[in-house]
Amino acid sequence: MMNKINEAAAYLKAQFTAQPRVGIILGTGLGGLVNEIKIEKSIDYKDIPHFPVSTVEGHSGRMILGTIGGVPVLAMQGRFHYYEGYTMQQVTFPARVMKVCGINTLFVSNASGGLNPSFKVGTIMVIKDHINMFGTNPLIGPNMAEFGPRFPDMSEVYSKRLRKKAFEIAERENIHLLDGVYVGTTGPTFETPAEYKMFRLLGADAVGMSTVPEVIVAHHAGMEVFGVSIITDSGVPGEIVEVSHEEVQKVAAAAEPKMTKIIAKLVQELDK
Ligand code: HPA
Repeated sequence: MMNKINEAAAYLKAQFTAQPRVGIILGTGLGGLVNEIKIEKSIDYKDIPHFPVSTVEGHSGRMILGTIGGVPVLAMQGRFHYYEGYTMQQVTFPARVMKVCGINTLFVSNASGGLNPSFKVGTIMVIKDHINMFGTNPLIGPNMAEFGPRFPDMSEVYSKRLRKKAFEIAERENIHLLDGVYVGTTGPTFETPAEYKMFRLLGADAVGMSTVPEVIVAHHAGMEVFGVSIITDSGVPGEIVEVSHEEVQKVAAAAEPKMTKIIAKLVQELDK
């Protein structure tokens, strides 16, 4: 496993002209952030040794090497989902490769169903914490001590520092930002009304099918994590309507410019 991670990282590193400061994983309908990147290189996943290849509609599989406002970044356009049949090791492989590439900050984005009754479809939620409902954990198996401890602390997975900054940026840019707990589940089914209700009762504000595995692995490896979620549909009793992947993509794409602004500014103000 470590060999494969090292080989993939070595392949990417050989193409760096500068050390990427931030790794970015772009979710469903959110690949447009790439337009903010001054692209130096675009690398197909299929060309990276041992990289899984993404299949789901609305996800292209490319590593984008470039800069945002002069800050070098490495962005994944398209992620691997557990529901596609990848193992947790495959889903989280890129996050580990990023770490070995010398990247210590990870930004993640996704689309989710809103559970908090005050959340409106089309708004952006900063992830303050998560609940892992995948029924498994990417760290199960021999501990990779190169990355972190057997029993990782999870008391502050989503960087308080970056969340605070995001809200400062949002205020300055006049963007309405929500703050909430993301529950990650396997999918591929959207939730039944009873399941949406259950996740709300468990303490979540939004539900989605990604992010938690990569974030666990990144946090284990000591990376600073920032996550945003676009509320693309409602799981609130009385508001639930039929939902489709197309609708999720459409709403995500509409909210994307705002999300992009937050992420682009945050990248540029990382050390401020
Ligand atoms: N449930 C799970 N995942 C999702 C949803 C949802 O309602 N919307 C977008 N991703």
